[in-house]
Amino acid sequence: MSKLLIIAAACLQASDAYTNVMGTELESCSGPGMARTGFMRDGHCTETNDDRGSHHICIDLSSTSGGNFCSVTGQPDWCSSEMGCHENYSAQCPVENWCVCQWAFASYLHNAGGCDKIQDVVCESTNMVALEAYEAQAASSPHIADALACLMSRCSISADARAAEVHANANAEAPAGEAGTSASVPLLLGGMVLCIGVGLTAGLAVGGRLARKKDRSMKAELKAGEGGQLS
Ligand SMILES: *[C@@H]1O[C@H](CO)[C@@H](O)[C@H](O)[C@H]1NC(C)=O
Repeated sequence: MSKLLIIAAACLQASDAYTNVMGTELESCSGPGMARTGFMRDGHCTETNDDRGSHHICIDLSSTSGGNFCSVTGQPDWCSSEMGCHENYSAQCPVENWCVCQWAFASYLHNAGGCDKIQDVVCESTNMVALEAYEAQAASSPHIADALACLMSRCSISADARAAEVHANANAEAPAGEAGTSASVPLLLGGMVLCIGVGLTAGLAVGGRLARKKDRSMKAELKAGEGGQLS
């Protein structure tokens, strides 16, 4: 009985404490004067059970260092639009720091022509789960491997430090870890389809077989929040 309570407490704690790709506390992606972002529209690029689009990567859509996210991914130009402000959702603010889908990010990177051709990544607000998802799929997808390398380079994460962290986590979570990993793989694949559904056919090969799924996914995405989550 007490063991169950401890496990329940550990689960609560784990879902409370979001970390960024550097392993420190996840900071808000949008801030005052910017449109409020996040799948839950709380400013954070957080994981939720419903966020199958995996909007975990915070990028600065106002930066001019690389190809514009909207044009590179072939979406309508919501990147330079205004939406509810971070501090007052009734007022309008320009879209600036924004949580984009980790699969869209991989596609964006590929189409932009490399890691030095993209807009700024806001590392302290980019969710660790994106890095973990990339790590899980890097071996089976060159585009995901590129996205992993890019995220690590942009956020100055050394491969050695990361390997040590993964090793420490595996030891700490030995009993539950295995079940968790196998359960999350189908979810991630589902997320990739959802994300591609939002106008992101470029870059990742999508067969005609996916066309019907794409249509359903888009409806699901558009239901997800005000004006949909076109990212
Ligand atoms: C929020 O914005 C609306 C629309 O601009 C304004 O009427 C309202 O006073 C603002 N609320 C606060 C608390 O600033």
